[in-house]
Amino acid sequence: MFAGPIDFLKGVVAMSGLPPADRVEVCFAGRSNVGKSSLINALTGRKALARASNTPGRTQEINYFTAGDTHYLVDLPGYGYAEAPVAVVAKWQALLKSYLGGRQTLRRAFVLIDMRHGIKKVDEEILKLLDRSAVTFQVVLTKADKIKTSEHEKILTQVRAALQKHPAAYPEIVVTSSEKGDGIETLRSIIATMS
Ligand code: GTP
Ligand code: MG
Repeated sequence: MFAGPIDFLKGVVAMSGLPPADRVEVCFAGRSNVGKSSLINALTGRKALARASNTPGRTQEINYFTAGDTHYLVDLPGYGYAEAPVAVVAKWQALLKSYLGGRQTLRRAFVLIDMRHGIKKVDEEILKLLDRSAVTFQVVLTKADKIKTSEHEKILTQVRAALQKHPAAYPEIVVTSSEKGDGIETLRSIIATMS
């Protein structure tokens, strides 16, 4: 676990609102409803820390959480939410671009992909942005409990193939279920051992 308090720090809507870049930072990106907030809750062992909901697009700010005294966990706004107003989407995209391109202490982006759906076109956009921003990203497959274990390998093979063309991709994929706890300890130790 992370040494020190785990807390919500702040929601950020502009680069000027970012906290001091004085910790190891990892962010969580992914489509609306993919399970970003649920994963942060599972990682921190705090059920209601990051809001998790059935209403897609609810997390509209860059939400900062302190994980002990050494790390920030950053919950990014979900993308690909069709019903979000165009102006809102444009604002998120601009902020995301500035954040990914300009945050010195950002060590890795975890890109969450719903294990039932695999990497979609809308995900490719963010993967390309991460390549361009030279931010190492690692794919985290979510909702593994919704897929038969016998199908896991097939999906992993597809995802691995899709990652071949991304220079910023970290090769290891983490299969998770925030609901059942699969992969949570693995991911926690990946983050906790970054320094
Ligand atoms: P936005 O903030 O809207 O971008 O969504 P999000 O990516 O934060 O998703 P959130 O964590 O709110 O989860 C969306 C829905 O998926 C909720 O109903 C969760 O309960 C459900 N969910 C998340 N993770 C899992 C999982 O591992 N298994 C199952 N079965 N459901 C999950
Ligand atoms: Mg959320």
